[in-house]
Amino acid sequence: MRNPPKNSPSSPQRPPQKSPQTPKPLPYRPQPYRPSESAPAPSPSAAPPTSSTPPRVVLPRSRRIPLYLALGTAVFGGFYIYSFVNSLRAPQTKLDVPADVTDRYDAQASFFDAEVNWTEWYTGIKKLRRKLMQKAHGDVLEVSAGTGRNVDFFPLEKCRSVTLLDLSGPMLEIARKKWMEKHPAYKNVRFLQQSALEPVTSPGGVEFDTVIQTFGLCSTPEPEKLLRNLEKVVKEDGQILLLEHGRSHYKWLDRLLDNSAPLHADKWGCWWNKDIAAIIGASELQVVKIKRRHLGTTWWIELKPRKGGGRVEEAEEDTADEQRPKLEQRSVAEQQVARKSEKK
Ligand SMILES: C[S@@+](CC[C@H](N)C(=O)[O-])C[C@H]1O[C@@H](n2cnc3c(N)ncnc32)[C@H](O)[C@@H]1O
Repeated sequence: MRNPPKNSPSSPQRPPQKSPQTPKPLPYRPQPYRPSESAPAPSPSAAPPTSSTPPRVVLPRSRRIPLYLALGTAVFGGFYIYSFVNSLRAPQTKLDVPADVTDRYDAQASFFDAEVNWTEWYTGIKKLRRKLMQKAHGDVLEVSAGTGRNVDFFPLEKCRSVTLLDLSGPMLEIARKKWMEKHPAYKNVRFLQQSALEPVTSPGGVEFDTVIQTFGLCSTPEPEKLLRNLEKVVKEDGQILLLEHGRSHYKWLDRLLDNSAPLHADKWGCWWNKDIAAIIGASELQVVKIKRRHLGTTWWIELKPRKGGGRVEEAEEDTADEQRPKLEQRSVAEQQVARKSEKK
C-alpha cells in the first residue's frame, strides 16, 4: 500500500503551512468560462462597461429622424417667436399713418399671398377658413375678398351664386384668376370692384343668404358702418360669417399690438389692434356665436341681422332724445358680445 503524500489533506501529521502568497483552496472545482450561445458576443471595439461609464445608447435611424425633426422645429419655432415678439417690442418710430390705409393693397397684391401663405398654414388660419366656408349656402357674397384666399373652400354644390367684392382692382384680379383656375365650370360668379360700404344685390336682384368677410374689419376705417351694410344686403333669415383679428385676451399682448400697429398698418394696410368686441357691439347685429383663438386675437364670428335688418329703424331721422335708448342698447349689445366671446 502506498503512503499518502506529504501535505496532502488526508495527511494526519502536519497541517499545511499558511503563506500570504498561497491562495486558499476553493471549496469547489472551478469551471472554465463558456459564453452561452444566446448571449451576443461582445464587440471588440466596445469598451467594457465599468461602474463609472454608463452604457452607450444608440438610437435606431427610424427614431433619430423624428427626433432631429422635432429639435429643428423647436429651434426654428423658438427663433420665430423670439423675433416676432422682439419686433413688436421694438420702439416704433412716430408715424403719421392715416386711418384709411386701403390704398396699400393695390401695391401689395402681387406678393400678398407669398407673404401670408406659410403663417396661415402653421397657425391653423387656413383650416379655419375652410371650416367657415363650409357654412356658406344659397346666394353668397364675400366682401373684402382680396386675392381670393377662400376661393378653394367654397362649397359650390350649395351655392346658387357667388359674388366676390373688393375695393382694390389688383387684389380682385388675382382672386378672379384663382377662381377661373379652380372652378372653370362654375358660371354663376361675379367679381365686383367696389366698396363694401355701398349697396349690392345678388344676381337675382335680392338680398344674399350668406355674407362672408375674412380679415376685413382691420382694413376699413368704418368697420361698424361696414357691418351695418352687410346687415342690409343679407336676407332677414340669412347669416353673416366673419373671421377677423384684433385685440387679445391679455393686456400685455394688446400693448405689444398697439405699439407696433402704426408701422404694421402703414406697411400692410391693416390695423391689427382693433377692438372687435366693441365694433360688433356697436353694430347691434345679433350674435349667434363667437369663438376666439391665438390668445384671443383671432375671432370667429357668426351674426344675423336684427328683425327688419335695421332697415326700418335707420330710415327715420334720429333726434338727440331718440338716440339715447339706442346708446343704452349698444352697451347691452357689447355686453352680449363679451359674454359670448368669454364662453368660447
Ligand atoms: C387684409 S386683406 C384681406 C383679404 C382677404 N379677405 C383674406 O382673407 O385674405 C383686406 C382686404 O379688404 C379690402 N378692403 C378694404 N376696405 C374695403 C372696403 N371698404 N370695401 C371692400 N374691400 C375693402 C382691401 O382691398 C383688401 O383686399
